[in-house]
Amino acid sequence: MVDIYIVGLGVLNIDQITRETERAIRRSNEVLYVDTGVATRTHLESLCPRVTSLFETSYKEYGQRLNAYHHMAARVLDAALDHPPVTFAMHGHPIVGAYAPFLIRDMADLLALEVLVLPGISAMDCLFAELMVDPCVAGMQMYEATDLLLRRRPLQPDVHALIWQIGCVETTLHTMRVSKPVRFERLRSHLLRFYPPQHVISAAYSTPHPLMPSTVHRFALQDICDHAHLLHSGFTLFIPSAAERAIQDRELLHQIDSGEHLRRITR
Ligand SMILES: C[S@@+](CC[C@H](N)C(=O)[O-])C[C@H]1O[C@@H](n2cnc3c(N)ncnc32)[C@H](O)[C@@H]1O
Repeated sequence: MVDIYIVGLGVLNIDQITRETERAIRRSNEVLYVDTGVATRTHLESLCPRVTSLFETSYKEYGQRLNAYHHMAARVLDAALDHPPVTFAMHGHPIVGAYAPFLIRDMADLLALEVLVLPGISAMDCLFAELMVDPCVAGMQMYEATDLLLRRRPLQPDVHALIWQIGCVETTLHTMRVSKPVRFERLRSHLLRFYPPQHVISAAYSTPHPLMPSTVHRFALQDICDHAHLLHSGFTLFIPSAAERAIQDRELLHQIDSGEHLRRITR
């Protein structure tokens, strides 16, 4: 018996909620959610008798984002101990860029509560569709913006890159304030170690509202600081590959079209 469902609500308001997720919410005695979509609350109320938004009580201006996750996890576990099953519903995919589900899983283990995680449509899925990018062709490397800088992670210029949370770069605190150009100077310097200054990159925000278009700002890497005021916490940076890696394994290149080779590697 499941005590806690952890689900994703997708990105585009209520339109990307899966049937599987709706079934979990219908089975729940309470749904606790973190999502600011215009119709989210009304829709959840049509599926579950008790609906609790955790956004307002979790995030405080200049508060640690980590504390917000602690608060969410505590509220969900409390509800699950009192009136299981409950659903914890988050924006996008619940396991992508969110710490609360991991806290819930660890604490649930100690409390002998059963957890089931269901996938949701992530911002990444929306960006693949909007930018028409196939991650299987040249590959895809993904990093969280502040972690990228903290560890000075190397980037492979022949592989596309997604950089999450660029609007939150250089802080663990929550704020709704608009960024200044200086915020992106360290990120620009780091990226310039791997890409040419004129390389055109995209900052993308998939629309959360069915009546509004998504926003994609395209600019040369060297100009990223000039776009600081536009890049709020919902944006993800897409850096297309800037080079092609030459094929190294010529033997395999000949084998991939060969029936004889396929017979040799299959039963
Ligand atoms: C805390 S993470 C949550 C990700 C979310 N769980 C998901 O699966 O998409 C927040 C980051 O996800 C990305 N993100 C969230 N919503 C987005 C959107 N509508 N368009 C583009 N990127 C988005 C941004 O990089 C943002 O800083």
